[in-house]
Amino acid sequence: MTTTETTAAATGASALVKLAGVAKYYGNIRALQDVSLEVSAGEITCVLGDNGAGKSTLIKIIAGLHRHDAGTFEIEGEETVLANPRAALDHGIATVYQDLAVVPLMPVWRNFFLGSEPTKGRGPLRRLDVDLMRRTTRDELLRMGIDLRDVDQPIGTLSGGERQCVAIARAVHFGAKVLVLDEPTAALGVKQSGVVLKYVAAARDAGLGVVLITHNPHHAYLVGDRFVLLKRGTMAGSHTRDSITLDELTRQMAGGSELDELSHELERVAESGSGVGVTDATARGAGRTGPAGPADQASRTTAPTRDDTTR
Ligand SMILES: Nc1ncnc2c1ncn2[C@@H]1O[C@H](COP(=O)(O)OP(=O)(O)O)[C@@H](O)[C@H]1O
Ligand SMILES: [Mg+2]
Repeated sequence: MTTTETTAAATGASALVKLAGVAKYYGNIRALQDVSLEVSAGEITCVLGDNGAGKSTLIKIIAGLHRHDAGTFEIEGEETVLANPRAALDHGIATVYQDLAVVPLMPVWRNFFLGSEPTKGRGPLRRLDVDLMRRTTRDELLRMGIDLRDVDQPIGTLSGGERQCVAIARAVHFGAKVLVLDEPTAALGVKQSGVVLKYVAAARDAGLGVVLITHNPHHAYLVGDRFVLLKRGTMAGSHTRDSITLDELTRQMAGGSELDELSHELERVAESGSGVGVTDATARGAGRTGPAGPADQASRTTAPTRDDTTR
């Protein structure tokens, strides 16, 4: 990744990707309004927000899948409108989507090179360079500290975390400057999430600018340099690491004031004693556990999804 390092060092100032005042409509649904974000080489920008906040929409704009309806999108200081995902890739922007696009029955090395297979020989003797692909996959994974015993095993047999790691190693190998990850830890257990975050940090250390989408403030704070909070399509905050604590980030994510409001409303329901069988005690109980945000998040991030990490 020497090219990435030298460009980063040479240009220094300008962000790799910079969005300013971006809006996006789906028909007349406003998915994003006045959203700004930047990511520089060797930095991780986290985008936080609940379901429906507009996180995926935002990264689809960066990935060239959608066009923004207002605002500006700059890549390395130049205003750009991406025609399609291929154009994003040509600019060095690699995206790992929530539902990883892999072919489960194909070996790990085959997935690693999918769409960019090297060949050897000429004319009628031209064929896939399988040895090179095997070797390169093993080496690239090792370089990021991933020791897969067998790159011939079908990628479907890897754990969710390992598959995310292969996708990250792949982006680094193919020379991405910007790596965009949509909720890479959403379906993972605690241990696997840690492993994935370690490789996210490794990509940053290799000089890439990383955009990490998550609804988990703890995951974000472990690795993030900047934090952008989205709420129903608008920006609810933008912070650098030294301007916000984990507690404050968590509070903002959980929507502190909204939860207070909810608990008041639940108490009122209880007091009115309407004949729906809500007793005072159960409603108060609901008031306490009701803040579905944090509780829901906790259960989601600890869901035991193939947590058989092999390392
Ligand atoms: N293709 C689409 N067509 C219409 N509405 C969409 C589409 N994709 C997303 N939305 C809407 O835009 C909003 C933001 O969605 P999304 O970006 O997927 O949020 P997040 O990733 O934060 O959960 C939601 O209200 C969602 O229903
Ligand atoms: Mg999403």
